[in-house]
Amino acid sequence: MGGEAKPGRGIKSWAQRHLNTGFAAGFLLVLLTYLVVSQQFAVTAPNAVTTKGSRVVDKQVIGAAGDAGLEKKRDQEWQPKAAAAEEPDKKDTSGAVPTQESPKRDDADAKPFETDGDKVVCNTDGPVSETCDLDGDVRTNGSALSVTFVPSSPSERREWRIRPYSRRTMAGVDKVTVAQLESPQDPAAPPCAVTHDMPAVLFALGGLTGNYWHDFSDVLVPLFAASRRYGGDVLFLVSNIQPWWLGKYEAVVRRLSRYDAVDLDRDAQVRCFRHLTVGLRLHKELSIVPELSPGGHRLTMGDFTAFLRETYALPRAAPVSLAREPGRKPRLMLIQRPHYRRFENVPGIRKAAEAAGFEVTVASPRADAPLGETARAVNSHDVLLGVHGAGLTNAVFLPPGGVVIQVVPYGKLERMARADFGEPVADMGLRYLEYSVAVEESSLLEMLGPEHPVIKDPEAVHRSGWDKVAEYYLGKQDVRIDVGRFAPTLAQALDHLRQQR
Ligand SMILES: *[C@@H]1O[C@H](CO)[C@@H](O)[C@H](O)[C@H]1NC(C)=O
Repeated sequence: MGGEAKPGRGIKSWAQRHLNTGFAAGFLLVLLTYLVVSQQFAVTAPNAVTTKGSRVVDKQVIGAAGDAGLEKKRDQEWQPKAAAAEEPDKKDTSGAVPTQESPKRDDADAKPFETDGDKVVCNTDGPVSETCDLDGDVRTNGSALSVTFVPSSPSERREWRIRPYSRRTMAGVDKVTVAQLESPQDPAAPPCAVTHDMPAVLFALGGLTGNYWHDFSDVLVPLFAASRRYGGDVLFLVSNIQPWWLGKYEAVVRRLSRYDAVDLDRDAQVRCFRHLTVGLRLHKELSIVPELSPGGHRLTMGDFTAFLRETYALPRAAPVSLAREPGRKPRLMLIQRPHYRRFENVPGIRKAAEAAGFEVTVASPRADAPLGETARAVNSHDVLLGVHGAGLTNAVFLPPGGVVIQVVPYGKLERMARADFGEPVADMGLRYLEYSVAVEESSLLEMLGPEHPVIKDPEAVHRSGWDKVAEYYLGKQDVRIDVGRFAPTLAQALDHLRQQR
């Protein structure tokens, strides 16, 4: 795990063991997910899925787990009634059409409830997340996963059930009960064992963490948005705690909160706060919507990546300036995935990129690479090139003004590719370029033949539901880039860098 992180010895070896068993189990799980989701309701696993590739090319290692989770997310997100995963009796037979769904953004308005400076704001009908913000006399009982709000004057009894993971449909993550009592004298108010001066944020790990993209999109970015305004003076109450996760991202988590995170499920004492946020709000996939920042403290995705550069002491906040240093070559990092959605002709692509004027590095995902090492490697480049997948999450470490080229596999995946990376990358202040793979460049053509419906009619495959999309277009496809067809995209990337001062 992270050399920059200093988790306890126990945590470290626990994480190591966890990751070392990841590869086989993770890959199997991906396949299982594909095979099993043929039911109409989504299948989800409660535990993190960690896949680990161990290839090292050009001595570059870069952190990115496989995409098992990314695909599982879609089972949930793109099939409208995926919450039925928890209640299998409520089967969704609507035959979801993933491509018809618009990317979700959480614009739901919450209704504040206020008396005498007390304030409870619960947002339970957002499209993605559910959260509560409580100001006043707030008491937590971790082992009961309950939060009690004691009003300062008589009020009505209210109760919410909040899933503290940023995706409200996430099965396997327990909900927290938030209850507002009727009066200050309500005997149901548990006595405070510890009274804290700092505010707290209560959230859950597990879920889809372990997939690099979800680590950022589901937890790190929403946690940053929820807690940055406190400048480190905030306590994290973590349900479904994952020591390996806190170890891997310790440098980030430590800069958001200077206190040790509380293992909430095993926290038997009643803690009292004046301000508590329950749950994390996912504004938009892998991004921040400035207007949704809490507490009137406007944050952007640019603030998040600047925060990461500070955290890992990354030297570059701008790409190479070809105006000032005409002799320098911009550096392009090509991300090769460990399995499926691989480039079949890396040497050819490298040659084309070199001919276009880039210095090229080929990097392969390694889930257990220390994050600081990954961050520094990526930050030393100006362009990131990769097939749609978790590895592109590393864009967060590129210097602003740099370029991300996403290669979108065959099969009408552009919409999803844009929501997962296109928009986030633009929000990070990077130039986003997209290269859609033509059927001739896809390994599926040779595998299935020109008459197969997967080749002939991607729209129909999308209409048939998410499982076939995941099985074929994401799970069985590699790409052989036509370097002549790709050349204009490389030229565009270079042009963009030329325009930087
Ligand atoms: C906290 O919750 C646990 C589990 O429900 C319960 O046994 C315990 O009595 C609660 N503690 C207090 C102080 O209410």
